[in-house]
Amino acid sequence: MSGTKLILGQVLDLVADPFKAPLGEAHVLHEALVVAQGKIAALGTKANLRAAYPEAEILDHGHALILPGFVDAHVHFPQTGIIASWGKRLIDWLNSYTFPEEMRFGDPAYGAEIAALYLDLVLCHGTTSVTSFCTIHPASVDALFTAAQERGMAVVAGKTCMDRDTAPPGLRDTAQSAYDDSRALIERWHGKGRATYAITPRFSPTSTPDQLAALGALWAEHPSCLMQTHLSEQTDEIAWVRGLYPQARDYLDTYEAHGLLGAGGLYGHAIHLVAREIDRLAEVDASVIHCPTSNTFIGSGLFDMAGLQARGLRIGLATDTGGGSSFSMLRTMAAAYEIGQLRHAPLHAAQLLWLATAGSAQAQHQSGDIGTLAVGSVADLCVLDLASTPAIAQRAQRANDIWEAVFPTLMMGDDRALIETYVGGVARLSAARARLARPR
Ligand code: GUN
Ligand code: ZN
Repeated sequence: MSGTKLILGQVLDLVADPFKAPLGEAHVLHEALVVAQGKIAALGTKANLRAAYPEAEILDHGHALILPGFVDAHVHFPQTGIIASWGKRLIDWLNSYTFPEEMRFGDPAYGAEIAALYLDLVLCHGTTSVTSFCTIHPASVDALFTAAQERGMAVVAGKTCMDRDTAPPGLRDTAQSAYDDSRALIERWHGKGRATYAITPRFSPTSTPDQLAALGALWAEHPSCLMQTHLSEQTDEIAWVRGLYPQARDYLDTYEAHGLLGAGGLYGHAIHLVAREIDRLAEVDASVIHCPTSNTFIGSGLFDMAGLQARGLRIGLATDTGGGSSFSMLRTMAAAYEIGQLRHAPLHAAQLLWLATAGSAQAQHQSGDIGTLAVGSVADLCVLDLASTPAIAQRAQRANDIWEAVFPTLMMGDDRALIETYVGGVARLSAARARLARPR
């Protein structure tokens, strides 16, 4: 916690969903915000807030843009070390790069090292919350929640469960141990501080029906937990699922039949959906997570943002580290824009920012708390230099409004754009940068 702070800058408050409200009604630009006891206490003009909070410590970020911290709704922190691995599509990529790396998390010290590294990297990119897969090792969950607690971050995570022989020996649990270990982790972490537990079957191809049923039962016993998995990412994967679950109507049905479809379910990728799957996801108010850099990097396909928005689904945005090719939600917004262009449905800067903040927060069922500047929400913020490189600066200089000023940073920005990352009102950027600069 911290004392009262008056933070000055261009405070861009998305007050309504720009997929639904006209742009003019969707945002308000303030000159300052006040943080008290780690929460947002007020927004307004410099003069008014200075007068109302004369004792506040003043932090002046000049013309920098102040936003809610980014919320990355689907990542695999254990894949930090294999990000940007060349030349494979999903199934070969998992077998060649991912599974051997995840095996290393049998060593808890390695897990702790990567969890700390990962969270420092995301803080340096302005991300203050993530929903992460861990590995099959319970210690990998302890590692991530511990590192998150040390940084004050709201993290959603869970032990990845895999009990089929499609996963390599050494990276398998059983239906019973997955249930028992996940339940023990829920008791240890769920709702402690800012930690939220997500029950985590990796995806249907690496679980037996018995394991999916055990995890469905666990979710029914702990309905305040979230549930995360993968859905219809690549066409080869869908054919594989059909072979492994011949009785299922479609991919989603492999989850639905085992109690793993519901509000609170986060379904990553969700690219190649059939009509019944979209209907059911909409009916139960589930979340789908768009992972644009991953979907191009691993060659998966083009997410149908416009179609799924029209159905009213909760849609989050995510890097999918390390199937995605960047830790940056700026780069991720750029990729979402590019995919929108390929689908002839370009996204406005306000929509991109909404997805990276409030959209992901809604997908994680945390909208009152994060991804927003609403009074009473936690002061998780990122502060962006809108002229962080000469290339961006020369373009932003010609801007006629806030959106033209912001868009070059969304398209071309990276971690150099970060001026500060606040978590619960505490400045976290320079310490994270200093830790990353130390030799490992
Ligand atoms: N499907 C199952 N596991 C994974 C994973 O680790 N990354 C991606 N992108 N897709 C998956
Ligand atoms: Zn994933």
